[in-house]
Amino acid sequence: MPDPLPSDLAAALRAVGARRGRLGDPIYYFHETTSTNDVAAAYAERGAPEGTMVIAAAQTSGRGRLGRSWYSPPGAGLYFSVVIRAARAAPFLTLAGGVAVAEGVRSATALPLEIKWPNDVVTRGTSGPSRRRKVAGVLAEASSTADGLQHVILGMGINLSPASYPQDLADRASSIETELGRAVEPGVVLAEVLTALAAELEPLARGEVSGLLARWRRLAPTAMGTAVECDTPRGRAIGIATGIADDGALLVKVGDRVERVIAGEVVWK
Ligand code: BTN
Repeated sequence: MPDPLPSDLAAALRAVGARRGRLGDPIYYFHETTSTNDVAAAYAERGAPEGTMVIAAAQTSGRGRLGRSWYSPPGAGLYFSVVIRAARAAPFLTLAGGVAVAEGVRSATALPLEIKWPNDVVTRGTSGPSRRRKVAGVLAEASSTADGLQHVILGMGINLSPASYPQDLADRASSIETELGRAVEPGVVLAEVLTALAAELEPLARGEVSGLLARWRRLAPTAMGTAVECDTPRGRAIGIATGIADDGALLVKVGDRVERVIAGEVVWK
């Protein structure tokens, strides 16, 4: 059974009105759950419409890309997932999620963030790419049948305030409040991220991707010219990132070939 939506979140969502489209309609809030992606998938299986959102104050089994877990202690972050059914948008939701988080956080707090391919949202700065800290992540999980795409669950985890990160994360993670040195309002961050996501979904559902790709490229300067180690069809390789293709694949120059990276871990060198 869901819990009542906290009044600060409800007020912030009301304040952006129609700018968040159908996202968060309806919304199911939990003080604690396993993974909001799993709960949203269960609602989607039972026919929940596009825009249905599940949000939790804490997750006991939050997960990230590549089978990793997502540290989700109570009150330290935003953990939420939305149901998307627009089939034309599906291949681009990973990129759209990263752009929406970076742009929404900036609108809500003025904190500039960047994207590391495909959708890690990291601190911006003068330090080398390998020293940027991760502030948010996006996990898109699709479900299809013989009839085609049923739904995509787009899950987002945003670190709001400092937490006792596990040892393996401590020097790679940060939070919005740590970076800004002041408190932020969770509801405003949530509402602005949903608004930014709604703005990306509308053209994507019509098959228009050029605007999203332009915004992604602007937010991900390290996807161009950075030395990376990555998985290619020919195995693990070291090369120079030369941008993304129009289908979102990372292009990496390895020797005299340009390899397409479509999955896996990319390590900035
Ligand atoms: C990543 O960077 O690896 C993606 C992290 C995604 C975490 C969010 S938190 C809300 C939603 N529920 C989950 O279990 N995962 C996503």
